Order: sequence, then structure tokens, then C-alpha cells
Amino acid sequence: MAPLLLDLTAGSRLLEVGVGTGLSLPTLPRNIRITGVDLSEKMLEQARRRTKELRLENVELLKMDATRLDFPDGSFDRILAAYFISVVPDPVMVIEEMKRVCKKGGYLVFLNHFRNENPVLGSLEALISPLCYRIGFRTDLDRKKLLRECGLEIESEMPIDFLGHWKAIRCINP
Ligand SMILES: C[S@@+](CC[C@H](N)C(=O)[O-])C[C@H]1O[C@@H](n2cnc3c(N)ncnc32)[C@H](O)[C@@H]1O
Repeated sequence: MAPLLLDLTAGSRLLEVGVGTGLSLPTLPRNIRITGVDLSEKMLEQARRRTKELRLENVELLKMDATRLDFPDGSFDRILAAYFISVVPDPVMVIEEMKRVCKKGGYLVFLNHFRNENPVLGSLEALISPLCYRIGFRTDLDRKKLLRECGLEIESEMPIDFLGHWKAIRCINP
């Protein structure tokens, strides 16, 4: 799903924030330049092992906080945040950084669980969110509100699970 929405062309530069163990890396084309950043050295170690085993020579992995990206403005054509934005305490700060390091007109792609639009299910998710956050992620993230706050519009969106609780969203960097 991510490669489809990322619409990658040869030679383009992709940043994945919160790359983790690098699960997405084998699904991405080899003719682009990929940078993956993560706060956890342990996760990066596993990602490095994966890139070595698969000989992904187009991938660079760096320890970095996504709320303070050490890249100049407009460095990347595409930015991917997969199963990440509901893990960080300040998603707005992360998205502002993603916008800054993405070229104008580039794509920001989010794969994530977002709060259900059904009022009953949404309220339930809001209720259990503090508990879920204790084990690492929140369940009450309202995608429309969040993206509006960051000055982004949803350009395309598709469900990535059977029930549509998880979505892939693409925004164009304004
Ligand atoms: C749920 S995992 C997702 C990993 C990967 N994107 C995937 O799809 O498998 C979230 C990752 O975000 C990382 N992380 C959390 N806060 C971060 C931050 N502020 N900056 C960079 N990475 C962070 C964690 O270390 C973890 O590897």
C-alpha cells in the first residue's frame, strides 16, 4: 500500500520517520535513495541487519528524533510515517518537521490507526486511549483534526485493513 501512495520514481529521495526494524524496506524500490530514522538504537540494529541480509545498498539508517530532524529544508521528495504518528507524544511537532524536510509538492504518507468516525466506536476508542498509550500507542487520533492543525489536506486515502480502522493517507506538502 505504501509504495502505491508514495508513487516513487527512480532517483527520488524517501525519508521514513520511525523506521523501526525496517519492515517496509524490502517492499520499496531499490532505485530510490532511502533514509530511515529512529530514536531506538535497538530497532535500528535490527533494521541494519535486515538491510545487510537483503543487500539494500540504497538505504541509510540514522539514529534521530523525528521531532528534531537533522536535515535541511526540502531534502526529500517523499516522507513515510508508518505506524508511527500515534506513538509519539506530539504528532503535530513530528508532522511540522516532516513538512519542513519535504520538498514543496512532495508527498507525506501516513499509515496509521485513526479514531473511528462512527460516534460510538470513536468514543470507545477515546475511552481506551489512555490505557493503550501506556503500552505505546494512542487510539483516539482524529486524522482530519490533526491534519487541519498542521495545514495539510488529505489528497487520497484508502483503508489498509478489512474493517477500515487503519488507513493509508497521502497529503501533498503545501
Ligand atoms: C510502532 S513502531 C513502527 C515501526 C515501523 N515504522 C514499522 O512499520 O514497523 C514505532 C517506532 O517509532 C520509534 N520512535 C518513537 N518515537 C520516536 C521519535 N521521537 N523519533 C524517531 N523514532 C521514534 C520507535 O523507536 C519505534 O521503532
